[in-house]
Amino acid sequence: MTEKFIPLIDRRQQQTRPAIPEQLSAPSGVLSDALGRGLHDLRISVTDRCNFRCVYCMPRQVFDKDYQFLPQTALLNFEEITRIARIFVAHGVRKIRLTGGEPLLRKNIEKLIAMLAALRTVDGQTLDLTLTTNGSLLARKAQSLKDAGLTRLTVSLDALDENIFQRMNDAEFSAAEVLDGIAAAAEAGLGPIKVNMVVKAGLNDQEIVPMARHFKDTPHILRFIEYMDVGASNGWKMDEVLPSDEVLRRIEAAGMPLTPVAANYSGETATRWHHAGGSGEIGVISSVTHAFCRDCSRARLSTEGKLYTCLFASHGHDLRALLRDPAAYSDLELSNVIAAIWHARTDRYSELRSEHTAALQSDRKKIEMSYIGG
Ligand code: GTP
Ligand code: 5AD
Ligand code: SF4
Ligand code: SF4
Repeated sequence: MTEKFIPLIDRRQQQTRPAIPEQLSAPSGVLSDALGRGLHDLRISVTDRCNFRCVYCMPRQVFDKDYQFLPQTALLNFEEITRIARIFVAHGVRKIRLTGGEPLLRKNIEKLIAMLAALRTVDGQTLDLTLTTNGSLLARKAQSLKDAGLTRLTVSLDALDENIFQRMNDAEFSAAEVLDGIAAAAEAGLGPIKVNMVVKAGLNDQEIVPMARHFKDTPHILRFIEYMDVGASNGWKMDEVLPSDEVLRRIEAAGMPLTPVAANYSGETATRWHHAGGSGEIGVISSVTHAFCRDCSRARLSTEGKLYTCLFASHGHDLRALLRDPAAYSDLELSNVIAAIWHARTDRYSELRSEHTAALQSDRKKIEMSYIGG
């Protein structure tokens, strides 16, 4: 059955224009939210467009030929993005991830990467500057991304089997092209590449074992992601989530024993495992069955400059309105706006969802992942 959904344009417009605090103070390099969580990771969506129509993210019945993507003038330009990023970095951000939609569709993305690569963390280090791509343009772009200053890369790949992959992306892209992109990125020095596979029960879960086997003796890190209830258009149902514990069980049952590995950093999305014998790493991202909000230090900047403090937020803070205001607010004023938003942050959606899934599902008007960025 094909349902017609309510246009999403209204949700994108749910936003608040932040007030400039009266007392201004210089950034100290450390911010803490209302639950004591820092701010280390900024994800920037550089386009709301994508050449895939993944069923769990941009289902074709919603993102069809009549869907109105943002006009070019609505998008933050590279100078605006870099200005905001610089302010976040002064607050302690160490990692910037470019997302979309498909970030490689943004014209001259290499130029933005070079501008961001010039930023330095509060302790004078280069940023961890990365990007999440569907891999379709990667074979052609990997070297120029590396040359521009990208430090590493994550590629989404939901199946090796071409029929299943095309059922997932709904746009006739082939897994072989994505594998070529991964190889090109590794060749260009962007490894170890992380490969993200969203598992939707009944659709691509039979690919778990083949994917684990394929990447087992490679330097690439395969991560299995529980299908999440992001946005309002994917028609999410709990029984389409395959719990990560089951993913691990199936890999072990197929003759690939695993041993747990400690997290790389506090608040890491993935739980890490090594193939026994030291022949590669896998991860599971269990935002539905084992929420990881407790240490969540991620902020998200949407394509048109709204700041979201949670992937599941329904309201953004309109930084673009301040950037483009004739009052020409200073960096110090913008910095204090961001600090005030972070100080007030209490988000822990995934934890709350675990407590009462059904109520949250019906009450919230969440923003789409293709707009806010993965
Ligand atoms: P690393 O920097 O390599 O550790 O990557 P990451 O895991 O932080 O980022 P990535 O974008 O690869 O995240 C993988 C997936 O985890 C995303 O596509 C989302 O499905 C999910 N995810 C990432 N961040 C969050 C988050 O803050 N909350 C929830 N619920 N899920 C998240
Ligand atoms: N559930 C889990 N992950 C999702 N992504 C997009 N939509 C969903 C969803 N509903 C993530 C995937 C993809 C990245 C771009 O966004 O990890 O690889
Ligand atoms: Fe595009 Fe990535 Fe969303 Fe798929 S998951 S539709 S590739 S943005
Ligand atoms: Fe962070 Fe929100 Fe994800 Fe929890 S649900 S980990 S608070 S983004």
